[in-house]
This record gives sequence, C-alpha cells and structure tokens, in this order.
Amino acid sequence: MPRLRVRAKPRQQEYEIRIGTKLLSKTGEVARISLGQQAQRIVIVSNRKVFSLYGTGVANSLKASGFSVSRFLIGDGERYKSISTVESALQFLHDAQLERGDAVVSLGGGVVGDITGFAAAVYLRGVPFIQIPTTLLAQVDSSVGGKTGVNMSGGKNLVGSFHQPAAVIIDVETLTTLPARERVAGWCECVKQGAVSSRKLFNETANFLRAAGQRELAVSPQLEKIIAAHCAFKASIVAQDEREETGRFDRRSRRILNFGHTIAHALELVTNFKRLRHGEAVGHGILAAGMISKNLGLLDETELELLATTVRLCGPLPSVRDLDERSVIKAVAQDKKRSAGYIQWVLLERIGRPRIVDGREISPTLLRKSLQQVFQGQF
Ligand code: NAD
Ligand code: GLY
Repeated sequence: MPRLRVRAKPRQQEYEIRIGTKLLSKTGEVARISLGQQAQRIVIVSNRKVFSLYGTGVANSLKASGFSVSRFLIGDGERYKSISTVESALQFLHDAQLERGDAVVSLGGGVVGDITGFAAAVYLRGVPFIQIPTTLLAQVDSSVGGKTGVNMSGGKNLVGSFHQPAAVIIDVETLTTLPARERVAGWCECVKQGAVSSRKLFNETANFLRAAGQRELAVSPQLEKIIAAHCAFKASIVAQDEREETGRFDRRSRRILNFGHTIAHALELVTNFKRLRHGEAVGHGILAAGMISKNLGLLDETELELLATTVRLCGPLPSVRDLDERSVIKAVAQDKKRSAGYIQWVLLERIGRPRIVDGREISPTLLRKSLQQVFQGQF
C-alpha cells in the first residue's frame, strides 16, 4: 500500500496520505493515530449519494475506535459550494458540541472536501479534519495540499483558507462507483498535473489512459501507482510553496498547478456551473492554455498535438462551440489569480516545463484567436 508524507512549509505540518483498498474500514484506526486520544467526537460531512454508498462503513470504523459520530449531509453539486452551506455546517458543528481536539471527516469529492476543509478551518479558529476523497479528481488533487473554500457569484473559490488535513485516506475501491463524466473530469486534472510536472508523469498518465481507455475504473496496482504518483507530485509542490506565495513566478511555484484553470474557471462561470464538471472545464482550459502557448511561440505544434491527444484520451468533453469568447475573456478578468491587477497565466514551454506569463504579454487579439481555435475544435 503506497504511503506518502506531506510536509507543508512554512508551518512544517506533516500528514500521511494512505492509498490502497479496504481503507475505509481503517478510518477509525487512522483517525486515532492522527488525532490522538483526546479526540472524542467526529462529524462526517458528505452528501446523500456518497454517504449511502460508503458512509456506514466509515461511521462504524470510527465508532469501533471509540469516537462518537454524527453526520452532516450537504447538497450534491458545485452550486452547494457556497458560504450558506458552510454556515449550516458550522451551526451543525456547534450543535454537535465539537471541541478543538475533536475533528471533521470529509467523505466525498472535491465539493465536499473544499466545504468541509473550510468549515474546519474557521470553526473555533480551526479544528482538525481528515480527507476521504471518493472521486478521482479529489484523490489526485483536491484532497492534498490544504486549499479549502467556496465560490461566490463573482467566481470560483474566491473565499477560502489554507488548512492542511490531519490525514488523507484514499480508498481506490470507491472509484468503482464513479460515473463516466466524473472519470473524465478526474483524468483531465491528471493530464494537467502531468503537463506541468514532468514528461515522465505525463507519459505514465497517457499510457495508463491508453491501456484503460474510458472504461470503468477497476481496482489494480497500476491504478494505485498512478494515483500515488500524482499525489507525490502535488505533495512536492505544496511542501515548498504551501501558500502559493504571490511573489513567486518560478517553475516550482504552486501557481503551476493552476495550468488550464484560468479558462476553466471562466467557462464554469459563464455556463453558470451547470454545463461542465470542474475537471471537464479544466480539459478545455488545458487546450486553451496550450493554444495560447503555441500562438505566443513558446510551445511547438507537436507538443500541442500531444497535449490535445492526451486530453482526448480522457473522454468526451461537453461542447463549448456556442460560447462567445468575449464573454469568457470578460469572466477571466474576475479570476483571483492576479498580481498587480494582471492575470498570471500558466503556460507551457514544453510538456513538463511550465512558464508563468504576465497577462500583459498576451494581446487581446491573440487571446481571442486562441479561444476561437479551441472552442471551434481547430486542432
Ligand atoms: P464533486 O465533488 O461535485 O463530485 C462529483 C460527483 O460525483 C458528485 O455528484 C458526487 O456526489 C459524486 N461522487 C463522489 N464520489 C463518488 C463515488 N465514489 N461514486 C459515485 N459518485 C460519487 O466534484 P469533484 O470533481 O470531485 O470536485 C470538484 C471540486 O473540487 C470543484 O469545486 C473544484 O473547484 C474543487 N477542487 C479543489 C481543489 C483544491 O485544491 N482544493 C483542487 C481541484 C479541484
Ligand atoms: N489545485 C491547485 C492547488 O491545489 O494549488
């Protein structure tokens, strides 16, 4: 079973990521080790769908380790990643009489994880939380690194905090119930991470996708290995730039993990969070960032083709052909990834070599043309 340790500077918080099978039944054991003996109460935050699949197993394991367990279920979907959901969650934690030494467990995808982490970050100025991610996207990305938060009407993740989990439990068996679109979404985040990490991780991801196709995810050592490789990469970035320092523009800055996200967030916003899963929006965003890189003369055509082929291996993306690129560009301006008023784009020099580019270096004409090319599927 792969185990990784994450150490996030500057506060040197350390936690373990466990990846394997039959791990939900070990939740109590892991919680006891990471929380200590003083922890008494645990609130599981989940949604109805995920809790009905996996909640009882997690709750029983926690109870067997001596915790008193209650659950708070939120609505299913991006629209519930809101301040009002956090407010209800906080009220629940209060009613459950959770104390500083107690904890919250997040059981679900990235939406549940971001909400739970944020509630845990602000309740009593911070209580521990454990991540049990159940989507591929959450297992390779959102559960690791401590970014938590909610959306506002003006854009994605505009309110949040950095709050590292006490432990991350990745049971790959939960992926066997994942719907097809969620698999596509998760693979797109993997392609993103591969593209900014190294040719090795990119190729491993592409090879896995070629072999597995778009079939349902079956539990295998290869699946565990690829998830572990992505977690290890993410942990290595977080370890030396936990807070995504605003003054950093180098290739190891946490900013590079936002590759594809400037356009992804804008696409989610202009489609009212209804048409695209977050990871699907990232798929389009990767293509857009690749096209901008090529049109700026940074990235070779062959590299762009390889990027596009690999995104296609993830599965079908909902069309964005009808979208007006001007409205998407307007939404880009609302993204929080700005410095001195300008968007900082994560682009590519080649696969595995990101470059952060100030928005002033990208002319409006080039941006518009690049988006037109991507939205019209011109590759
Ligand atoms: P999600 O949380 O909405 O989950 C997708 C769907 O899958 C939901 O309907 C959920 O109920 C269902 N589901 C979850 N696990 C399941 C399972 N095992 N079997 C069957 N159905 C299951 O979406 P997501 O893609 O996991 O997460 C997207 C969110 O994550 C976005 O809000 C995004 O902004 C955020 N995110 C955060 C970070 C971070 O660093 N914090 C990184 C990337 C993405
Ligand atoms: N998903 C981007 C980050 O964690 O920084």
